[in-house]
Amino acid sequence: MKSFSAKSDLQTYLNPLRKKKKKIGFVPTMGALHKGHLSLVKRALYKTDVCVVSIYVNPTQFNDFKDLESYPRTVDSDVLKLRQISDNIVVYVPTNEDIYGKDFSLSDFDFMGLDKIMEGANRPGHFKGVANVVERLINAVQPKFTFFGEKDYQQLSIIQHLNQKHRWRTTIVPCPTEREYNGLALSSRNQKLSETSREKSGVIYEILKQVKLKFSTNSMENLKLYVKKKISMHKDFIELEYFEIADELTLTPAKKNQKKLKYRAFIAAKVEGVRLIDNIQLN
Ligand code: PAJ
Repeated sequence: MKSFSAKSDLQTYLNPLRKKKKKIGFVPTMGALHKGHLSLVKRALYKTDVCVVSIYVNPTQFNDFKDLESYPRTVDSDVLKLRQISDNIVVYVPTNEDIYGKDFSLSDFDFMGLDKIMEGANRPGHFKGVANVVERLINAVQPKFTFFGEKDYQQLSIIQHLNQKHRWRTTIVPCPTEREYNGLALSSRNQKLSETSREKSGVIYEILKQVKLKFSTNSMENLKLYVKKKISMHKDFIELEYFEIADELTLTPAKKNQKKLKYRAFIAAKVEGVRLIDNIQLN
C-alpha cells in the first residue's frame, strides 16, 4: 500500500495510472477511521481501480479550538485498517502547508444559503473550511468518483452544489450511514463518550425512527414538539441543539408536508460535551 504526504509525490504516482485509464476513487477523511469510513472505502474499491484515502484533520473547519485539539489522531492504526482491506488503496496524509501553503488564506464560496441553517448556523465558518479543504483535496487527487457519507448530509449537499457550480470534474457518490448495534451513527467523536453514554445515545436514532413513523400523520410543529419532549425525558445525559425537518434537495426547513417533495429530519445533540449529529429520510 502506497502512502504520500506531498501532493507532488501523490500526483507523480497517480498520473501514469490515469493515463492507463485506471479509474481513481477518492474518500476524504479526518482519520480515526471506523466502519463508516471503511464502508466508503469499500464502495470506492468496488466502483474504481484505485482508491485514494486522505487523512487530514482540517483546522479551518473547526470553530472551536478545544474540539480541534481533542480530535482523535490515530494515523498508524488508520493505515493498518486500510492495509487490511486492500493493496489498491493509496493513503494521502498531507501537511498543513501541502494543503494551504504558508498562510492558510481561504477562498469564499457562495453556498446559496445552504450554510445558514443547522450545522452552518451552529458552527460559524465550518462549511467554508470544509469547502476549502475539499476543493484543494479534489484538485490534488483528480478523482473520477468522490465518496461522501449521508451521515453528514448537509456537508454532502453543499459539496454536490459546489461540485456542479465550480466544475470540480468528479462525480459525488453518496453512501448510507453505518451505525452501532444500538443505532447510534458511527462517528470518530463516539470514542470520546463513556461506555454508558454511548449505550444510551442509541435513543437519538430511536427518536428519528419514531419521527419517520409519525411523519405522514403529524404536522411539522407536532413532530418538533415530540422530539423536544422525548429528548427532555433524557435530560440527565443529553441536550438538544437542534431538530429540523427540511426539503432533501434544497435543505429549506419545511413548514408543511407537500406531497411531491422528499423530506429529511436532522438532529444535533450534545452528550458529555460531545456533539452528535444524525439524520433520516422521511418519505
Ligand atoms: P470525517 O468526519 O472523517 O468523515 C469522512 C467521511 O466519512 C464523510 O464523507 C462522512 O460523511 C463519512 N462518514 C462519517 N461517519 C459515517 C458513518 N457512520 N457512515 C457512513 N459514512 C460516514 O467529513 C469529514 O471527515 C470532513 O469534513 C472532510 C470531508 C474529510 C473534510 O475535512
